[in-house]
Amino acid sequence: MNYQWYPGHMTKAKRMMQENIKLVDLIIELVDARIPLSSRNPDIDRLGANKSRIVLLNKSDLADPAANKRWINYFGDRGAYVLEINAKSGAGIKSVAGLVQEACREKLERDRKRGIVNRPVRAMVVGIPNVGKSTFINSFAGKACAKTGNKPGVTKGKQWIRLNRALELLDTPGILWPKFEDQAVGMRLAFIGSMNDEIIILDELACDLITVLMEKYPNALCERYGIELREKAVESLADIAESRKCYTRGETLDMEKAAAIILDDFRTGRLGRITLEEP
Ligand code: G4P
Repeated sequence: MNYQWYPGHMTKAKRMMQENIKLVDLIIELVDARIPLSSRNPDIDRLGANKSRIVLLNKSDLADPAANKRWINYFGDRGAYVLEINAKSGAGIKSVAGLVQEACREKLERDRKRGIVNRPVRAMVVGIPNVGKSTFINSFAGKACAKTGNKPGVTKGKQWIRLNRALELLDTPGILWPKFEDQAVGMRLAFIGSMNDEIIILDELACDLITVLMEKYPNALCERYGIELREKAVESLADIAESRKCYTRGETLDMEKAAAIILDDFRTGRLGRITLEEP
C-alpha cells in the first residue's frame, strides 16, 4: 500500500511557525512516545536552532516504559530537556514548569546580568497533528490562568496564556508536518491513527501492523486474541477474524472488521504498551 500524508496547508503552517518562533525563547515539542522519530519533523531542529528546547514524550501511557527511558536518554544526549507525559491524564505535567526554568536558565541569567528582571519566558508548543498539543495546553495551562495580548487597538495580536509570573505560552500550537515522503514513516503514522483512515486499506494496514508486532512484540497478539502466530500476517489476521467471530454474510471471514478491531486495540493500548521505534 502507498502511505500518503495530506500535504494540505503545510506551506502556510510552516510560514506561521517561522513567524511565531521569532517571538519565543523556548520550544516545547510534543512527540508520540510510540514513534518518537516518525512523529516529528526534523526541520524543527533548523527552525528552532537558537531556541531552548523541551521534548515531551506524550502518550507515554501507550508506549513501552523501558523504551520511554531509552528515548529520554536519546533526546537528552542531543541537548533537549525531556520528560515523558500523559497529557490526557495529566501525569508528568507538574514537572514541566520546573523543566522550563531549567531549559531557560542561561537566558534568565543573561537577563539578570543586563538588569532585566521579571520578564517571563515565552514558549510555544509544536508538534504534528493529533500528537496531543491541545490536550497538553489545556492540561498545562489549566483554567486558572489569564489570557494576555489582543489588547484593544492592537489588531492581530498574539494570544499569550500567562501561566505564572515566569512563563507565558502562545495559545495556538505550531503544527508540524511529518516526513510524509518516507513510506516507513507514513506506515507508522497510519498505525497510530495520525493519517486519514479513509485513504487507507484497513486489512493491508492491519497486516503491516501484525508483521511489525510479530517481530517486536510477538506475545501481544497471541495473548489478546488467543491465537498462535502464523508465518504470514494475513493468516494471523484470518485467525483473529475467526476468534472474534467476524463474518460477512454466510461463512466468509470479514477481514476488514478484524483489521479495524486490531487497529483500535493497538491505538487504545489494549494490545499492551508498545513502542514501534527504537533510538
Ligand atoms: P493535537 O492538538 O495535537 O491535534 O491533538 P489533541 O490534543 O487533539 O489530541 C489528539 C488525541 O490524542 C485526543 O484523542 C486526545 O485525547 C488524545 N491524547 C492526547 N494526549 C494523550 C495521552 O497522553 N495519552 C493518551 N492515551 N491519549 C492522549 P481523541 O480520541 O481525538 O479525543 P478524546 O476522545 O480522547 O477526547
